[in-house]
Amino acid sequence: MTALKGRDLLSLADLSPNEVSEVLNLAAQMKAGTVAPQCRKVLGLLFYKASTRTRVSFSVAMYQLGGQVIDLNPNVTQVSRGEPLEDTARVLDRYLDVVAIRTFDPKDLQTFARYAEIPVINALTDLAHPCQALADLLTVQECFGRVDGTTLAYVGDGNNVAHSLLLGCAMLGANVRVATPKGFEPNPDIVAQAKALAGERCDVTVTHDPIEAVREVDAIYTDVWASMGQEAEADDRMPLFQPYQVNEALLDRASDKAIVLHCLPAHRGEEITASVIEGSHSRVWDQAENRMHVQKALLASLLGAV
Ligand code: CP
Ligand code: NVA
Repeated sequence: MTALKGRDLLSLADLSPNEVSEVLNLAAQMKAGTVAPQCRKVLGLLFYKASTRTRVSFSVAMYQLGGQVIDLNPNVTQVSRGEPLEDTARVLDRYLDVVAIRTFDPKDLQTFARYAEIPVINALTDLAHPCQALADLLTVQECFGRVDGTTLAYVGDGNNVAHSLLLGCAMLGANVRVATPKGFEPNPDIVAQAKALAGERCDVTVTHDPIEAVREVDAIYTDVWASMGQEAEADDRMPLFQPYQVNEALLDRASDKAIVLHCLPAHRGEEITASVIEGSHSRVWDQAENRMHVQKALLASLLGAV
């Protein structure tokens, strides 16, 4: 894993498929307690958006590695008073060993990464959520013993979570189908990138038909219909997305052993019903737990502790 030392994770495609598998396998070993790397390093969390899972799982992961975490809330740093990101990046680079950034515009992440030499981790932008995809893939691997050859359907908004899932599935040979309302399809550049990564190994499909998308799949995945920053559109989106709700009727179309995934936070009665998220097919709590294991493995790798 020394190949990951010092690198950035801005998109999942910054890693090779083999490196993604290595991070997942390391995470599984760390979760099982058979490997316990240590590093006394400092992680900064620069989050411009709300977060429960990402903030806490990164913090706990770093503490368990023997390191420290500094919360760089933009409201209590000079960032909110207009200090250029280029300057902030060059200064924080001198103090921190690694930084995780959650922001709106992916260009901000790229700017920070260009001006800081330490590893920069994408903790969610409007375009991508690669740490979430790592946890999603680990959950699939745990449930089915493999990712390669499984089939996942993502039903809902073609957003950041869908984008990273598309790339992750394509990289590891899982068939992936994304079903969205018209006008809410995933970014065509990401779809093309996923198709190129998939090659002949697996299928990448984008459709407007949720029923066709979930037919006999191993996993159904959904996320909120309006992401952070899109709250004003939420009411207008509701009727358009209603046919894409993950409910008992949709779940019946999947394989009997299908699992249900959601990155959380969930809106019960909107993108997923209470009975499905609380039901026997749901693996959302394991999936949320896995955020911590994959990020701990990622931090240990980027910091050269393994
Ligand atoms: N899934 C996820 O990233 O959750 P948070 O927004 O709570 O970090
Ligand atoms: N798509 C959601 C994911 C939250 C973890 C958002 O960006 O708000």
